[in-house]
Amino acid sequence: MTKVISFDRVSDIYDATRGFPPEISEQVTDFILNLVSATPETKFFETGIGTGRIAVPIAKRGYSYTGIDVSEKMLAELHQKLEGVSHKLTAIQGDATALPFEENSFDVAVTVHVFHLISNWKQALAEIRRVLKSGGIYLYSHSQANATQPSADTNPDRWEFSQRWRAILDDYGHPLPRYGATQEEVLTELETQGVTLETVIAAKWQFQQTVGTLLENHENKTQSASWAIPDDIFTRAVQDLREWTLQRFSSLDYDFSEERQFKIVVVRNWT
Ligand SMILES: C[S@@+](CC[C@H](N)C(=O)[O-])C[C@H]1O[C@@H](n2cnc3c(N)ncnc32)[C@H](O)[C@@H]1O
Repeated sequence: MTKVISFDRVSDIYDATRGFPPEISEQVTDFILNLVSATPETKFFETGIGTGRIAVPIAKRGYSYTGIDVSEKMLAELHQKLEGVSHKLTAIQGDATALPFEENSFDVAVTVHVFHLISNWKQALAEIRRVLKSGGIYLYSHSQANATQPSADTNPDRWEFSQRWRAILDDYGHPLPRYGATQEEVLTELETQGVTLETVIAAKWQFQQTVGTLLENHENKTQSASWAIPDDIFTRAVQDLREWTLQRFSSLDYDFSEERQFKIVVVRNWT
């Protein structure tokens, strides 16, 4: 059976650790609505809708939004945000690889930071294509969480920290797992299907962080890649990481701030 990576275990801290600053959330919403030339008839769909980081602000503007997620607890967080708000959002529990929707149902499909989690990602992609109307637009954004190369906006010290974490786990014989696809794999697959691709930056912002906060996030297993590490190995590995961090950066207040970007690959002509 395919292993599913549910975010139940981090649903209560997801928004605090991954949420956009409020003004950036509005900027991303404006950008998406403008990008797809949204009208009152536009129907949005999202696989891995989570707590509604992308969906809720769009739904609050009155658009029809449908989403699916394996995590009941992430969906509970989403529904809580919509209490008392008039909306047209339907979010249901289900798996990306078997969508309970008719073909040609939606004008815009969205996936944000989810394909790195789905082992049968080609099937998930095929399902999105099936439910998207012909002439529809697919907005694809891949997580940097398990990147093997730094991107232009990565803080070099933070990159060194994450490479150290990888090396420590490698030494224990438990490398960080890769559950699903890389961005390159997804884009290559889409290209073989004859689509047109365009990369756009929906928002940029300064993200404030110290090495201490990042270390704490690792210790609290906020990152999905750490969930597959056996507990005994994990305990020793984070202890090694803490010791290395204190030696390398001297203080837990060492600044790891960086410019973050929200990047979207716009997929058109997917027929
Ligand atoms: C990193 S979160 C992203 C959530 C949201 N898209 C966002 O950007 O905030 C990934 C989400 O995908 C969900 N997920 C993982 N595998 C899935 C699958 N096979 N089918 C549906 N949802 C899945 C997780 O439960 C989690 O809520």
